[in-house]
Amino acid sequence: MDKTSSIHGMWSSRLMFILAATGSAVGLGNIWRFPYMTSDNGGGAFVVVYLCCIAFVGLPILIAEILLGRHGRVSPVNTLRNLARETGMHRAWVGIGWMGIVAGILILSFYSVVAGWTLHYSWLYLKQLFGGAGIVDPGATFQALLASPLELTAWHALFMVLTVGVVALGVEKGLERAVRFLMPALFLMLLALVAYGYTTGHMAEAAAFLFRPDWSKINADVFMRAMGQAFFTLSLGMCTMMTYGAYLPKEGVSIPRTGLAVALTDTTVALLAGLAIFPVVIAFGIDPAGGGPGLIFTSLPLAFEAMPFGILYGLLFFGLLAVAAWTSSISLLEPATAFMVEKYGVRNRKRAAIVIALLCWLIGLLSVLSLNLWSEVRILDRDIMTFIEFIANDLMLPLGGMLIALCVGWALNRTILRDQLSDLPEGLFLAWRWLMRVVAPRLVLAVLVRALVG
Ligand code: PHE
Repeated sequence: MDKTSSIHGMWSSRLMFILAATGSAVGLGNIWRFPYMTSDNGGGAFVVVYLCCIAFVGLPILIAEILLGRHGRVSPVNTLRNLARETGMHRAWVGIGWMGIVAGILILSFYSVVAGWTLHYSWLYLKQLFGGAGIVDPGATFQALLASPLELTAWHALFMVLTVGVVALGVEKGLERAVRFLMPALFLMLLALVAYGYTTGHMAEAAAFLFRPDWSKINADVFMRAMGQAFFTLSLGMCTMMTYGAYLPKEGVSIPRTGLAVALTDTTVALLAGLAIFPVVIAFGIDPAGGGPGLIFTSLPLAFEAMPFGILYGLLFFGLLAVAAWTSSISLLEPATAFMVEKYGVRNRKRAAIVIALLCWLIGLLSVLSLNLWSEVRILDRDIMTFIEFIANDLMLPLGGMLIALCVGWALNRTILRDQLSDLPEGLFLAWRWLMRVVAPRLVLAVLVRALVG
């Protein structure tokens, strides 16, 4: 088999891969989920555990995923199948690919609902720009949105259509265009918001909340949340990065460096989002703890209302956040689509993407209803949306990551790894392999067992 290209197309350069992988990593996870997870799980202590998870578990597994993808050049399921044939490793490892497909579908189902909220807010600001009413009571505006199944469903549907559009067009045409200019624009917007946060005079308190750990807040549950967030934000554990790695050219592209660039950018964006949001939260007298999933939607509009050109900012901010969510959702859909394409032929790419997206949309309706009509329904003490998020994010992603680490650490031989990581100095290679073999799997297992069994 030709191992220099993939049937799905190839990234035109290393920069393009970095943009696409960053586009996948940076999304609602950084700007919506990270601040509210930090808010709900004890501030600084959560952030420190999260950063450790990124450095010692996330980044090494990110490297492993890209490596597997670039070696295999096909969708995760088939990459693992081929590896089993090639190296004699057990076929059970293929399960990682299947679990990734299921996790991707579950995550996209609620991800699209939340992305729909960002579309709705962009629309609100657009209307306001042309003289519509302002968001005077952000809490009430947010509650009104959640209370309307029809509106939620419509935005969820629109977002899914946008996602499918890009995936159906294929790697080069679709994905590259979306990430080239808009991601840097979002970064600038965040910087501007951090600067605004500074002018509120509450930056020091915000920084203390984010970075001064109160260790008494740490328990097994917080640890699990931080680990889940680390996997989620780096798009790990469900073979997204493996899929993107399959389209990465081999010549002259270093996987460790590329992975490091992606992880650093992603972490920077999350921390910037924290520094943008918490000064506003504090300045407007909101309790920084326990903000819940509505945090950015109920706090940032207060700042947009107060700052000069706030309406335009609001429009740009939520619009670009929708774009960031878009480049992530594309990558949630890609592993399953690539698999279907390999099964049914390249000419069926559009149909494959549509079928999977339709499935995600239907499952997403459960999340929509759990916000209003079915808000009383509880599974394991959680409403339906939180339950799906829990199963997919907090369980399946770390579990998938752990299996990837074990597969790369124990089932694959050194030759394959060294071939892909040829530029890594021997000492670092050994350290990375030790993280894969021992540290990452044990840590993930310990955290999951402690949190679930108590
Ligand atoms: N990393 C994305 C975000 O932070 C979400 C995502 C998770 C994308 C898993 C792909 C795979 O928003």
